[in-house]
Amino acid sequence: MKNAKNNGEKTAMNNITIRKETKEDFYNTEHMVMRAFWNIHGPGCNEHLMVHKLRDAKEYLPELSRVAEMDGQIVGAVFVSKARVVDGDIEHEVLTIGPVAVEPTCFSMGIGGKMLAEVTDAAKAAGYKGIIMCGEPDYYPKHGFITCDNFGIEHGDDGNFDAFMAYPLNDGFEDIHGKFYEAPVFEECEDEAEIEEFTKNFPYYKPLKLSCQWLHKERLGRISEIQKNSYTIRFLKKTFRLSSKALFITKAPTSFRLWETMLHLLIIRSGIL
Ligand SMILES: CC(C)(COP(=O)(O)OP(=O)(O)OC[C@H]1O[C@@H](n2cnc3c(N)ncnc32)[C@H](O)[C@@H]1OP(=O)(O)O)[C@@H](O)C(=O)NCCC(=O)NCCS
Repeated sequence: MKNAKNNGEKTAMNNITIRKETKEDFYNTEHMVMRAFWNIHGPGCNEHLMVHKLRDAKEYLPELSRVAEMDGQIVGAVFVSKARVVDGDIEHEVLTIGPVAVEPTCFSMGIGGKMLAEVTDAAKAAGYKGIIMCGEPDYYPKHGFITCDNFGIEHGDDGNFDAFMAYPLNDGFEDIHGKFYEAPVFEECEDEAEIEEFTKNFPYYKPLKLSCQWLHKERLGRISEIQKNSYTIRFLKKTFRLSSKALFITKAPTSFRLWETMLHLLIIRSGIL
């Protein structure tokens, strides 16, 4: 990843500044993370709670984590923490990243890529051997991430899969093999009541089941932009673009199913399925 070396104090990209997070940013970062993940994989999300808890975890590395600021607002964040790869009696220290989030109205402005470049440069300079993470399988390879099966590293519980990727930083990463485990805090953010309670700290967004969640899961499309109540959905990497408030209608199962059926038909007709 090409990027000027920096110590995380401040790097400007046009009007975007990439820097370390301060206490004053905490609420705004969590709100931005919530907006970025809201309704993407299913109704609502838990990543804002994850960020909140991760900051107190012993594995968290604030010195390597970054936020992006534009016009005085937090528009992106990458959180970095220590993780481990266990190979029998040997335990290797590695890094993991996540959540990674960009304010939805600022998607595709290069903020995500810029933050990743800053984080990988800082982590490399700090001497860590590599980053291992679970993330969007069609996004991270554009930034140099490679699936972990190439390194003989398995996810502790789930083996290998496309979303399980690594980014080698320094010599010696190729000698790391075994099972990957991230900080326990990532598993401690699933309690529905706790998520609901924590979410009350932020402006209300309706948890919704949307067609694009199914598309996202199948890697056929995803939310590419949010403006007010309107999601822009990108299908099949650029083939279709739809923007419609109709996707927000939850109490109209007929029209909702109609949307889904139309999308299925479009996809089938285009020969993808
Ligand atoms: C994924 C995310 C961090 C990317 O940030 P970003 O600032 O929009 O990304 P960049 O501007 O650096 O890159 C944009 C490019 O990546 C592509 N891209 C963005 N998200 C993608 C995804 N989920 N899958 C595949 N490609 C994706 C865009 O289509 C664009 O491609 P193009 O340059 O060919 O048009 C941001 O979209 C986001 O916060 N998404 C919601 C939360 C999320 O999914 N986070 C990652 C979880 S691991």
